[in-house]
Amino acid sequence: MKKIKMGMIGGGIGAFIGDAHRRASRICNDYELVGGVFDINYAKSMEFAVKEGISLARCYNSVDALIKGELKFPKNERMEVVAIVTPNAYHYLFAKKFLDNGFHLVCEKPMTITVKEALELEKLVAKNKLTFALTHTYTGYPMVRQMRDMIAKGVLGTIQRIDAQYYQGWINSIIHGTGSRITGVWRLDPKMAGASSCMGDIGVHAFNLIEYTTGLEVKEVLSDLNSVKDGVTLDLDGTILLRFNKMLKGVIRSSQVCAGEENNLSIAVYGSKASLKWSQENPNYLYMLHDSEPTKVFKPAHGYNDKLAEEGHTMPAGHPEGIYEALANIYRGTAKSIRKEKFKPGEFPTVHDGVRGMKFIHAVVNSNAKGNVWTKV
Ligand SMILES: NC(=O)c1ccc[n+]([C@@H]2O[C@H](COP(=O)([O-])OP(=O)(O)OC[C@H]3O[C@@H](n4cnc5c(N)ncnc54)[C@H](O)[C@@H]3O)[C@@H](O)[C@H]2O)c1
Repeated sequence: MKKIKMGMIGGGIGAFIGDAHRRASRICNDYELVGGVFDINYAKSMEFAVKEGISLARCYNSVDALIKGELKFPKNERMEVVAIVTPNAYHYLFAKKFLDNGFHLVCEKPMTITVKEALELEKLVAKNKLTFALTHTYTGYPMVRQMRDMIAKGVLGTIQRIDAQYYQGWINSIIHGTGSRITGVWRLDPKMAGASSCMGDIGVHAFNLIEYTTGLEVKEVLSDLNSVKDGVTLDLDGTILLRFNKMLKGVIRSSQVCAGEENNLSIAVYGSKASLKWSQENPNYLYMLHDSEPTKVFKPAHGYNDKLAEEGHTMPAGHPEGIYEALANIYRGTAKSIRKEKFKPGEFPTVHDGVRGMKFIHAVVNSNAKGNVWTKV
């Protein structure tokens, strides 16, 4: 099948997530990277293009130049989809330009800086009938998809509590002056990151994972955020109480300063009949707990799994797959949508998930600013 011609904004030499996007797009084998604006510095962008074997004619020095250049190509040679993997502050600006000019998008989270911008993108996607995938990467794991299916089938009974946690530690050494990391530190700058560091960067993944696996919407939040050290303007840590309905509550705990923690995202959904627990650092195990039975472990590549979970694991059972394959599953679903093939709900997070994420981040920041009060999402 003809490959989908893809562009990338950001993701040049030394960047973090752009490389994962490229690997994922190759794993699913539906895309061909043809050009982009790979770095804020044009010389570095060209250095990257040469290294990747990308034609310098399609290594542009700005998004405007890229759009102008690509629109000159006949449709079957033109870039069809663009992956935006820059810091947060550029997502809306670039996404709007691409959507206005008929390009499909894969965009990193958080989708925008404000809720207004997010709603605007949602409208544009619908109006221009384009595909917009938001890379909440963890929804691509087979066992997360299995969890979603089991909850939708009512296996847990009535859900009584939801508990998600996302702990990292890498910013701890930055604020205490003992770390040497240079990339990604823009997350502490409100002009680049937006209204939040911890909740905007990782708390929002935990929020998305809750809504993705349970199909429920968080209605209200009460947050207690912490910037941890004098001179830090954004939150680096916090706890958020969640209300779904009168009888269902939950919590998100998230931090970027838990020394020694790596990428400790986990979720537990407790029901009247049983419970499910999943953790990102061991993503191929989904645990089902009962009051009166031994714990069951679900694993990928077994016939007992849901079809979407099964399709998301390419090797036979016992061959561990991980983060690149999870992101590749999102890229695969996105390709189906771009090609106007049939796809199932949940194959990739959409612009609507982006709107939900922005509403969550702003509700959390407002709740904290008003003195830790219940705030509608
Ligand atoms: N889905 C996930 O799990 C996940 C993981 C990490 C990061 N992210 C998100 O991905 C985005 C990028 O994060 P990162 O850690 O890779 O950042 P990074 O700092 O490592 O890389 C950013 C890249 O964007 C380039 N860039 C910056 N401004 C640009 C501009 N105006 N034009 C073109 N290129 C520009 C930089 O030169 C660099 O190549 C963020 O929005 C972040 O929240 C998501």
